Amino acid sequence: MRKEARRDFGKCRACNACQDLIACPGGGLRTGEKCIGCGACYWVCQHNAIEMVPADDLGKVSIKVDEDFFEVSNGITVLKALEDLGFHIKDFPDEEEGIYAPCKTGGCWSCALEINGQLLPACFTAVKDGVQIKTASENLIPKRKIGGFFGHMAGGVGTPWQLKGQDSIIETVCFTVGCNFHCPQCQNWIITFMSVLDPLTPNEAARKMTLVRQKNEVDRMTISGGESTLNKSWLIQYLTELKRLNPEPQTRFHVDTNGSILTKDYIDKLVQAGMTDIGIDLKADNINTFMKITGLENQELAQKYKDVALKAVKYILEKYPDVFLGIGIPYNRELTSLEEIEVIGQKIARLNPDVQVSALDYRAEYMRPDLPPPTDQEMREVHSILKSTGLKTVICQIRGNHIGPDGNLILPS
Ligand code: FES
Repeated sequence: MRKEARRDFGKCRACNACQDLIACPGGGLRTGEKCIGCGACYWVCQHNAIEMVPADDLGKVSIKVDEDFFEVSNGITVLKALEDLGFHIKDFPDEEEGIYAPCKTGGCWSCALEINGQLLPACFTAVKDGVQIKTASENLIPKRKIGGFFGHMAGGVGTPWQLKGQDSIIETVCFTVGCNFHCPQCQNWIITFMSVLDPLTPNEAARKMTLVRQKNEVDRMTISGGESTLNKSWLIQYLTELKRLNPEPQTRFHVDTNGSILTKDYIDKLVQAGMTDIGIDLKADNINTFMKITGLENQELAQKYKDVALKAVKYILEKYPDVFLGIGIPYNRELTSLEEIEVIGQKIARLNPDVQVSALDYRAEYMRPDLPPPTDQEMREVHSILKSTGLKTVICQIRGNHIGPDGNLILPS
C-alpha cells in the first residue's frame, strides 16, 4: 500500500522545517501531488503535524534490478519498491545480505545504490518507469550529507576535559546528517534532518575539514552527528584521507558516536584509518529508559544497540589504551533516574575507573519543548553520584560551562 505525507494544518506551526531542512524527493508537501512516502517530513516535524496516510494507487512501473525486470507500484521510493520485491532491508550493517537503511531520511546514504548509473539513496529516490538499479555498487565512491565545518569552543564527549573551558577554539567539527535513533529530545536535530545539504565524498569532506583546521590553527578534528558511524565505508575513507592530508604527529582525529553499531571489526578499521579519540554516549542501562531516550520502538533492536555500545566501550578500553575514550551519559529527571545513573557509573568503573565520563544535561529540544532543563544543582548531584561509584574523571555539563573532576568549574588555563 502506498503512503503519502499529509499535513494537519490544525497542528502545523508553520516552522517550515519540512521544507527548509528536507530536500523533499517528491515535492510532496510543496505541490501536494508527488509525495513518494519516504517519511522524512514526518520525522522532522516537531509538532506531530505530518501523518503518513494510505494513498491512491498510481499504477505500475517497470524497473530493472540487477539483471531482472519487475513491475512495481508507481509513486514510491526505490527502497520501498525493493522491499515489496522481497529484498531484505536491514537495521544492522553486519547482518546477513540486505540493504542497510538506518536513517531513512536521505542523510546517511548507507542505502545508496547505483540508480541509472548514479549513486543515490534508495530511501529518498522515487522509483520511475524504466529505472535500472544495481544492488551491489562497491565501485562507486560513497557519499553522505554533512554540514558544520567550523571551529568549536566546547568540544564533544571524546574531547579531553583539560581542553574544555577555554575562551578559544579547541577543535574543528563537522556534523553528519542522518541518525538511526529518533530521540524525542534530540539535542542536534536540525543537522540530523538537513537533507538539503549537498552530499560529499570522503575526500571532499576531508579537504574541507583540513582547510577549516588550517584556518583555525588547531590540531583536533571532530566528526559528530546525526550519527557519524552509519555509513561505514564513507567514514573509514574519510578518516584515511583526513590523516593523509594531516600527517603531523600531534593531529587528533575524533569521532563522536552513539556507539550502537560499533562492532569490534568496525573499531579496528576506524583505528587503522587514523581515529585517535572517540566519544561514545551510553544513553541508559535499563532497556525501557533506553527506548524512551532514543525513541526506538523495536525492543530487540534497541537491546542490540545498547549492548553493542557498552561492548564497544569495553573493547576500546582493553585493546586500544592509546585511543582517548570519553563516555557520555545523558541526564534529565524526566528521562532517567539517579539510581540508573549510579548503575551505569558502577558498570563503567568496573571496566576502568580512570576513563573520562561526561554527564550531559538534556534540555528542551525538538519534540520535547516541555522538558524541564536540569538545574546546576541536579547536575552537581549527578556528578557526585558518578564519583561515588569510583570513577575518577567525571565531568558534568551545567549551563554554559563544565564542572571538572574536582567539582570546580573548568576555567581557562
Ligand atoms: S537510510 Fe537512506 S539515506 Fe540513510
